[in-house]
Amino acid sequence: VNLDHLHLYSSNLAQITRRALEDPHRVSDREIDEAFLEILSRLSLGSPFTFAEQHAGRIVQDIRPMETHEAERSSRGRIALDLHTDDAFLPREVRVEYLALCGIFNPTQIPTQVVRIEDVCERVQPETIEALAQPMFSFGCPQSYDIEKREEIWASPQPILKYRENGTVEVALPSTEVKVTEGAEPKAAHHLRLFKSALADAPHRQFELGAGEIIVISNSRCLHGRPAVEGERWLKRVYLRQDLTALNETAATETPGVYAAARAAGYER
Ligand SMILES: [Fe+2]
Repeated sequence: VNLDHLHLYSSNLAQITRRALEDPHRVSDREIDEAFLEILSRLSLGSPFTFAEQHAGRIVQDIRPMETHEAERSSRGRIALDLHTDDAFLPREVRVEYLALCGIFNPTQIPTQVVRIEDVCERVQPETIEALAQPMFSFGCPQSYDIEKREEIWASPQPILKYRENGTVEVALPSTEVKVTEGAEPKAAHHLRLFKSALADAPHRQFELGAGEIIVISNSRCLHGRPAVEGERWLKRVYLRQDLTALNETAATETPGVYAAARAAGYER
């Protein structure tokens, strides 16, 4: 599969998932996880990976509101998530390239919203694209990471847009606050506002993932989000990357945690 933006699959996971919901003793959570990983391995979009500090380091993560984290702006909370990319605060070398989501139980059909970055860039002036390609923006650590003093952690200034050698554009934007480098005000904040307004105007694709439906989203070419979760909504998530060099180097020498990986990629805390 050559995946530039996103793909939607319908899988045999639907039967397994339904059996599990009818009678949790017949099918274990682990069977669902293994079947999901098996499908992803056939797509050859990269290897599954995660960080020790997120979802307790589980490779297949349960994306559903958790009682103790409901007020979080994260995959385990209920608050609406604005369009974003995952782990924008990490350097590209260790950041998730593709996120795979599989529907398990979504009775009120809460959608996953996806916007292509080109559709946003078409709606802004070249000055805005130019401004967002400057390293003037700092992102905080997502709330889904269980790290001490998480609120104090901010990545060094980086761009929101990056042009690849082949002329295509990549995006990194968190759903939480973005800080603008002091000297860059008011220009940077002004262009960020214009970009966010174009983001709101761009076509939103909606995927109401039902049992066994899988969507794989490019985390650099699309932004994703969802409305608030009122009832039950349960998805499985797997992060994929083609090149695990920076992560493997870290794991060989240190705890394969998010900060060790970030340091290996030349990122200073
Ligand atoms: Fe996300």
